[in-house]
Amino acid sequence: MAGPGEKMSDRTPLITTIHVAPARPRYRHQTLRRFCTIACLSTLVASAIFFLLPAAFLPWHKHKHKHHDNPHPIDPSSITFKELQEILLATPKEEKAQEWSKYYTSGPHLAGKNLSQAVWTQERWEEFGIKADIVAYDTYINYPHDHRLALCKKEKSKGMEVWDVKFEASLEEDVLEEDSTTGLSSRIPTFHGYSASGNVTASYVYVNYGTYQDYEDLIKANVSLAGKIAVARYGEIFRGLKIKRAEDLGMIGTVLFTDPGDDGPASEENGVRLYPNGPARNPSSVQRGSAQFLSVAPGDPTTPGYPSKPGVPREPTKGKIPSIPSLPISYVDALPILTALNGIGPSAKDFGKHWDTNLGLKYKGVNYNIGPSPDDLVLNLVNEQDYVTTPLWDVIGIINGTLLDEVVIVGNHRDAWIAGGAGDPNSGSAALNEVVRSFGVALAKGWKPLRTIVFASWDGEEYGLIGSTEWVEEFLPWITHASVAYVNIDVATTGPVLGASASPLLNKLIYEVTSMVPSPNQTVIGQTIGDVWDKEISTMGSGSDFTAFQDFAGVPSLDFGFHGDPNQAGGPEVYHYHSNYDSFHWMNTYGDPGFHYHIAAARLLALFTAKLSESPVVPLNATDYALAIEGYISTVETKLETSIAGTESGEELAEARSRPTPSAPKGDVDALKMSFKGLHQASAKLLKASQAHDAFAAKLSEEVGQEIPWWKWLSKLKLYIHIRGVNTKYKLLERQFLHQKGLDGRPWFKHVIFAPGLWTGYAGAVFPGLQEAIDDKDYGNAYRWAGIIEELIWKAAASLR
Ligand SMILES: *[C@@H]1O[C@H](CO)[C@@H](O)[C@H](O)[C@H]1NC(C)=O
Ligand SMILES: *[C@@H]1O[C@H](CO)[C@@H](O)[C@H](O)[C@H]1NC(C)=O
Ligand SMILES: *[C@@H]1O[C@H](CO)[C@@H](O)[C@H](O)[C@H]1NC(C)=O
Ligand SMILES: *[C@@H]1O[C@H](CO)[C@@H](O)[C@H](O)[C@H]1NC(C)=O
Ligand SMILES: *[C@@H]1O[C@H](CO)[C@@H](O)[C@H](O)[C@H]1NC(C)=O
Ligand SMILES: *[C@@H]1O[C@H](CO)[C@@H](O)[C@H](O)[C@H]1NC(C)=O
Repeated sequence: MAGPGEKMSDRTPLITTIHVAPARPRYRHQTLRRFCTIACLSTLVASAIFFLLPAAFLPWHKHKHKHHDNPHPIDPSSITFKELQEILLATPKEEKAQEWSKYYTSGPHLAGKNLSQAVWTQERWEEFGIKADIVAYDTYINYPHDHRLALCKKEKSKGMEVWDVKFEASLEEDVLEEDSTTGLSSRIPTFHGYSASGNVTASYVYVNYGTYQDYEDLIKANVSLAGKIAVARYGEIFRGLKIKRAEDLGMIGTVLFTDPGDDGPASEENGVRLYPNGPARNPSSVQRGSAQFLSVAPGDPTTPGYPSKPGVPREPTKGKIPSIPSLPISYVDALPILTALNGIGPSAKDFGKHWDTNLGLKYKGVNYNIGPSPDDLVLNLVNEQDYVTTPLWDVIGIINGTLLDEVVIVGNHRDAWIAGGAGDPNSGSAALNEVVRSFGVALAKGWKPLRTIVFASWDGEEYGLIGSTEWVEEFLPWITHASVAYVNIDVATTGPVLGASASPLLNKLIYEVTSMVPSPNQTVIGQTIGDVWDKEISTMGSGSDFTAFQDFAGVPSLDFGFHGDPNQAGGPEVYHYHSNYDSFHWMNTYGDPGFHYHIAAARLLALFTAKLSESPVVPLNATDYALAIEGYISTVETKLETSIAGTESGEELAEARSRPTPSAPKGDVDALKMSFKGLHQASAKLLKASQAHDAFAAKLSEEVGQEIPWWKWLSKLKLYIHIRGVNTKYKLLERQFLHQKGLDGRPWFKHVIFAPGLWTGYAGAVFPGLQEAIDDKDYGNAYRWAGIIEELIWKAAASLR
């Protein structure tokens, strides 16, 4: 790519503007752009007067000349923000989104396997009027070669012992006539990304969800684990971490199955018809997915922290991906394996509520015994993976703004585990294409963004956020210098309920934009998305491409999408995550019939982008961040107290099930308690600085909306300089929370406020360093983390001065 890597960071902001702005025609409308031009002019005049720099006039003269020569001058001033907003709301169309969805979901597009989809995307974006390039990374990755899972029993036959195959798992999803891509000859086998090759035969143990404490419960009950194969149900934590713990305990293989008990009310057991005849889960559906130890470091496991360019040195993968083989299976394939354990070993009931809920196969005759299976009843698990180092392709589209050092990045991944992927990720890809097309329409009408906008179609997200992580690693200096925010969309829709997570800096923007987009399902005329939304914004965890931006580069990020409503009467449609049934047919029948929510997602995404790029004063709110930080400090403080007193809430205890039992308390707990005083003080200071900053920003926003006569050019220059100053502080605020040494045991994660939970993988943890130390009852280390955090909060407060 010729793109954003270019050394824009070498220039000072003002010089960039002088260089660029005079090339613009006149402006009538009220944006910073005008002030920018005036400011530049003023700067030029000032330069001329005070520094006698006649050369500074040249661009302006050239520009005027060009402008006058142009017989059909396009005056960008004809596009006000209001007009841009109208274009962005009116352009996205259901038929178009359907067309894009159909394209992406008609053939396999596993990471690194479909260059033509990258080229197609690039060509569409260029057709829409956005300059786009393909950026390649050479990544270490696996593709499925062969697999087998069989249940074997030793039988005596004519005095000889022979292994009898009792059950051979199909490891296949059913081909459905109604759903054409389920029958492609090129369809992708069921497998795990980054799983280890192996051929193991051993007795097996049912390990519930395979959380840390699930395994601990088994150890406590003297269930022998070493040398056995773990059979775990999906859910609760990231799949790679289930395999990791099995590996740590000396187990030699892992089988992960989908239990329909975790699907909610839409189940066969409740009389709901099965896909394709109804919204309940098709019994043969399999959840593929990555087995990478995501919470340690995403991206190419051989190049942590630097881009996977050809020829770079590669590090060993130990500790980052599993070394024991694993296979994902359907519940149909799990049934005989689980039933064979009936009556053997303890039962799930014996381990309490956490084991004894959502058991969706009881009605099929599974007793959920733990095992282990006797020595003469074993699983043979064969997993053959081809590991290669091969190119992946990000597509990067850029619209240069007037300000080159303020950049908004918008991304979605393109790769899927299957030929389909109509939900994950191509509902997002269809929405993104409509967004790019809409901005193209605006460009054709003469619009030019104030800030630079980058659109990204990432590859390799599914294996471990590879395309986005490598790109951030490659362009880190520029991203650090210039990026204002990252907006992510992965699964745009699988139902009608909006979900969002974000850095609190972006909360106000989310509330504002959701109130600008009409709801596709209005029970009262005029209802917006915001009107029918619970307004919950979660903290950033991991599981999609915002991770490198938020947690590694310190770029405030937001992620959103529509999902099914678990409280819907009769149950929501079951989303067949990472299965062949996440297909165009499923989407158009159950997920988003008519594609109305695709369009709602496109409009939200477009307006997030437009607000971020066009608001003269960057639309971030520091006060919200400071208030959130104060809240997090109090939460952790309460947690520390309940942890010391041993009075944890049910929720806390449930969360504790995913991580190790702490050893004996270490360090000075009183010193730690005292350190919270410092944290509160720092956070109060940050709140004060934030309120002052936001108030000044609000005042500037107001001023920028008022007419200032041309002869008050000095006032204009002042306003311009003030706005640029305020924006730079907003832009860099999130960066203040990066700790270059990173979190304990996972140095890639540099943000001290947000990270994925070490033992959950997806869910966001706040103050991860501090919380993990408290969880470990290592109060000395917790004290150290409180100090690191306090210092960064002071630094953030100072940065706003
Ligand atoms: C790539 O994707 C396109 C469109 O979905 C599909 O037609 C094609 O078969 C895929 N190519 C490969 C090599 O799988
Ligand atoms: C797996 O190992 C067993 C025992 O060593 C062997 O008989 C079998 O052929 C192997 N299977 C595969 C697919 O390599
Ligand atoms: C596990 O084994 C230990 C030592 O053999 C024994 O003391 C303990 O009672 C056993 N626990 C259970 C639950 O069987
Ligand atoms: C954007 O601006 C940079 C720096 O001036 C330039 O190198 C690049 O080609 C421009 N890109 C586009 C898409 O106009
Ligand atoms: C529309 O909203 C109503 C009221 O919230 C709800 O009952 C209904 O299921 C929704 N329909 C769709 C298609 O989402
Ligand atoms: C920022 O957020 C605070 C607290 O929510 C609010 O009082 C203030 O008006 C907001 N400022 C702006 C400019 O949005």
